[in-house]
Amino acid sequence: MSLAGRHLYLIGFMGSGKSAMGRRLAPHLGRPFVDLDQTIERRHNATISEIFARSGEAHFRRLESALLQEVAAGDPKVVATGGGTYQSEANRTLMHESGLVLWLDVPLELALERSLRDPDRPLAADQKKFEMLYRRRRELYARADLIVPVGRDPREVTCLRILDALADATAPATGDD
Ligand code: S3P
Repeated sequence: MSLAGRHLYLIGFMGSGKSAMGRRLAPHLGRPFVDLDQTIERRHNATISEIFARSGEAHFRRLESALLQEVAAGDPKVVATGGGTYQSEANRTLMHESGLVLWLDVPLELALERSLRDPDRPLAADQKKFEMLYRRRRELYARADLIVPVGRDPREVTCLRILDALADATAPATGDD
């Protein structure tokens, strides 16, 4: 598995730290960072919640997939996806074709603590639905190329752990084993 010429896609549930980690990882990897949600908000001059409320989730998903296609076609980047980007089969295929997919696996308690009732996370308004979504999504996220559990460590520690995991996963095979 090599990262050369390929994107690094960060996937994971709300509150897993995709944006914070992506921003930290990018300079270490010498490539630009792009956050899909923030790019959508900037381009449409509206928060994710406003887009959901005005135009519905299906519309948001179309914007998300279109932006993913645009980013995938560009130079290699570190890409923070939204928690639902990987849910679409077309998105998943594109991500695996154009990059390495890394799952930041956050425990439910921490995801809840960080996201529940966040006004800009429309899918975190209801705890029961949030928990159901968390359980359903884990089966999909498990298809990632690489899985890094994340917890309450300082961000810099988690960032170094991700870099280590990437170095291990992308090291050229020695043929020793
Ligand atoms: C979503 C997660 C959000 C955002 C939108 C939908 C989801 O991103 O894309 O609210 O479906 O899980 P974060 O994972 O960055 O919160």
